Amino acid sequence: MTPRKKKLDDADVLVLFGATGDLAKKKLFPALYNMARSGFLTTDVVGVASTKWSHEEFVNYAFESIKKTVAAPDDKVLGFLDKHLDLIVGKYEEQALYDDLAKRLEGKKNIVIYLAIPPSAFEQVTRGLHAAGLMDRVRLVVEKPFGRDLKSAIHLQDSLEMVLPEERIFRIDHYLGKESVEDILVFRFANSIWEPVWNHRYISSVQITMSEDFGIEGRGAFYDGVGALRDVLQNHLLQVLALIAMEPPSEINSHNMEDEKLKIFRAIAPLNPESVVRGQYVGYLDEPGVKPHSDTETFAAALVHIDNWRWAGVPFYLRTGKALAETTLEVVIEFKQPPRMLFAETQAGAPNILRFRLGKKDGVDIELLAKSPGDSLSTQPVQLNVEFSAALGERQEAYERLLRAAMSGDHMRFTRIDSVLETWRILENVINGEPALFPYFVGSWGPERANELVGGEWIDL
Ligand code: BG6
Repeated sequence: MTPRKKKLDDADVLVLFGATGDLAKKKLFPALYNMARSGFLTTDVVGVASTKWSHEEFVNYAFESIKKTVAAPDDKVLGFLDKHLDLIVGKYEEQALYDDLAKRLEGKKNIVIYLAIPPSAFEQVTRGLHAAGLMDRVRLVVEKPFGRDLKSAIHLQDSLEMVLPEERIFRIDHYLGKESVEDILVFRFANSIWEPVWNHRYISSVQITMSEDFGIEGRGAFYDGVGALRDVLQNHLLQVLALIAMEPPSEINSHNMEDEKLKIFRAIAPLNPESVVRGQYVGYLDEPGVKPHSDTETFAAALVHIDNWRWAGVPFYLRTGKALAETTLEVVIEFKQPPRMLFAETQAGAPNILRFRLGKKDGVDIELLAKSPGDSLSTQPVQLNVEFSAALGERQEAYERLLRAAMSGDHMRFTRIDSVLETWRILENVINGEPALFPYFVGSWGPERANELVGGEWIDL
């Protein structure tokens, strides 16, 4: 793999495909507002969509989405966006759309094109952009999942590589833009107390959970073709696992980081269908856009082993799902019990726990045993907690950081193709072999089978 150039030039325009879609509404417009407010965004933002809207309708849509997340938007910033937002309407299948876009982008030298559209449309759009003669000035930002299995990811990469070098492809996994997720690196590599215990000698298991207490929220047509394994486990959860498990890079830069993550993915054998549990919430089949009798999973749990020296024999359990009991994103590290249980009566079954809370109000908790008050030498668990936003101030939003990075040409926080292909290889037997699907109730923690996977119960969230 040729090392990437460290940094590309700053973008002079941002183009958003899927500008009237869900991702733009929920994440991208609020991110653009923040970028404009901080003075980072100085360029035009050209939306592309098939919805026939006037400039005014488009701007209203953007402002509505901003007002949902920003308490009192600044009129000056909205005024700036009004002047700099533009919409080009057309059909993705028709070349005229790309030719119109090329006219609109005349004179622009560093064009960032963000594809906030279903992955199935990526190829068509890149072909259109290429035919319009835009590709030599473009860097392309593509949303996950990159492909839908190993074969299609290779195919997609081949088709992109024909028109674009790797250094101008930015593959998004927005979890890599979360400050809370990045904190795993700082926690592990800026503090010397963890390294001696960060291995199979001291750690008995790792559990990674991303759960949501809501269903598919009208995204049926998209979600039904994807499912929890492809939507979250292949990308978000495996990326978090890699940050927990990887060796320290010799320097923090995108190339070294991806090299270390790649070594972890390579040390994971393809998942065995018996170590994967798929579930579907009761009521999913009635959601609009979902195919009758669909066997798409809305829950997935997996047991993963990393076959290397550091992690030999340590189970990594991953789970994700929609319509579960809580919305949370956590990593729970369970430590081994001491070699002799001096306070056996109360100590047994209460191992030390280190918990990374990576979702809203992120922070770290450490669960220790302390002496219970009174005469006896019995123990009881106590928690040491820190909530980072209270201790350090508010975090930035992931999409804002990723858009800024792509516009400045910085690959940190984006995934590299070799890692992405490895993650598909890991899932290959379970996305094509399709393990059985178990129903679960809305508001539960998924199918009972997921507990059997961990040999009891998941550690409480
Ligand atoms: C997206 C998935 O990548 O991540 C969604 O497609 C999911 O299904 C979302 O809801 C969760 O993101 P976050 O940042 O809220 O954890």
